[in-house]
Amino acid sequence: MTTPPYEHPHFASKSGPPPGCPAHARGIESARLYGPEVEADYTAAEEALRKRFGPVAPVTLQGDVPAWLILGYRENLEVMRNPSLFTRDSRHWNIQLDEGSPLAPLTAWQPLTNLTDGEEHTRLRAAVTQSLANFSSRQESESGGHGVHRYVVWRSHQLIDQFAARGSADLISEFADLLPLRVISRLLGLSEAHVPALVDSVRDTISGSATAVTSSEQITRLLYDLVALKREVPGHDITSRLITHKLGERLGEEHLRQEVAEHLRMLLTATHSTTAPLLGSTLRMSLSDRRFRGHLAGGQMTLPTAVEQVLWDSPPFPRLVGRWATADTDLAEQRIRKGDLLVHGLAAANRDPKIRPDLDEPMHGNNAHLSFSAGPHECPGKNLARGIVSAGIDVLQERLEGLRLAVPTSEVHESQALMSRHLDRLPVTFTPRPHRAGVGGPPGAQPQHAPIPQSGTATPHALSHG
Ligand code: HEM
Repeated sequence: MTTPPYEHPHFASKSGPPPGCPAHARGIESARLYGPEVEADYTAAEEALRKRFGPVAPVTLQGDVPAWLILGYRENLEVMRNPSLFTRDSRHWNIQLDEGSPLAPLTAWQPLTNLTDGEEHTRLRAAVTQSLANFSSRQESESGGHGVHRYVVWRSHQLIDQFAARGSADLISEFADLLPLRVISRLLGLSEAHVPALVDSVRDTISGSATAVTSSEQITRLLYDLVALKREVPGHDITSRLITHKLGERLGEEHLRQEVAEHLRMLLTATHSTTAPLLGSTLRMSLSDRRFRGHLAGGQMTLPTAVEQVLWDSPPFPRLVGRWATADTDLAEQRIRKGDLLVHGLAAANRDPKIRPDLDEPMHGNNAHLSFSAGPHECPGKNLARGIVSAGIDVLQERLEGLRLAVPTSEVHESQALMSRHLDRLPVTFTPRPHRAGVGGPPGAQPQHAPIPQSGTATPHALSHG
């Protein structure tokens, strides 16, 4: 029997890390957090680490890059809430990555909200939160702001129309992977005509296919064009709001366009790579888990409660790279050196036995999980994400009579990587129904790049958690 790397007495690799490798420099035993055995069962690997090292474990990431994996709930919170000691700014790193390292895209510094701290972070985050606020707050949906809920419902119906008459579908590729991107594209102010191409390009970039680079260039072009257009003809959309915010900073025109376009790209990726898996996992649970199936149908367990349960059990970012120590310090009896990388183990924190002694005990809507992080970088899109998931599933359940899984639950396979999880397929069957009559364009159909539809009838629940 092969010993899994996380139980191997000399962890890093059979021959150990190569001479000169930063893992050596630390002079401590580390566990490898990559490779097929770990990737096949991250939970087992992390629980073995917790048992061996406690709440903070020395690990190596791909390329034998040293890091600390924070497994404890309390320790994760401590780091999230202390940005002066544990910064998001990767320029503090005490090692240089090899060229072509798979960690480079996750850690390369840019002037973005998620990679800065202090005053710069406050400035960049304000631009993002203020532009999102109008589309995700309780006030927005109750006072009839820009009708995101109605738009999510309309988009959901439109996707379901493609397979409703068939009586079968794969709810990952035909629904969960498409809905969040379509919604966020619209909120950014992209025209209906551009949305399908953008959705394809973003999915292609994330899947790392052979055409990923071309797709990424296409996204850049589209976003630059969008910023140029919104600079001339502003609308009620996130792009126009970001531009207005940036205008106050007196940046040069090129700098302004670049910062806005990069933030838009970040919002697209942040939405797709998280909300799609949350939608997929909640759908799987609602179709297969007895705790939910009966409850959802009988109305005892609300959909938002089910969403929180999934966020506890299957966080879309199971791990988050990262934070960098700005000074030598101790964390759960481990000596952290200035410039060390820390990885938030969000999935591990959510199942920390100190706060959840019984993982089968339902969380009853408790939303104190760390899946959206906490502290100054806490996810500003969390209510939008919850709203998209709840509204999408509401529409599916309303439209598809007799909706059920077409395969045993054991055949619904999930792939995980360091910072992502994804259901491969979710095949379902239901009673075939012809298309709905009288389906038109989006609510309050608009010309190209027009404002998001106004609505006075948004349903409060979907966009109003928290
Ligand atoms: C289920 C869906 C989502 C999950 C689980 C999620 C989770 C997270 C997490 C864990 C962080 C990292 C915070 C940190 O560094 O401590 C984050 C940051 C962020 N998320 Fe989300 N997110 C989701 C959806 C969204 C959506 C829909 C948007 C945008 C519309 C969004 C925008 C952002 C932004 C801008 C940041 C950076 C915030 C900052 O650093 O100040 N997220 N998210």
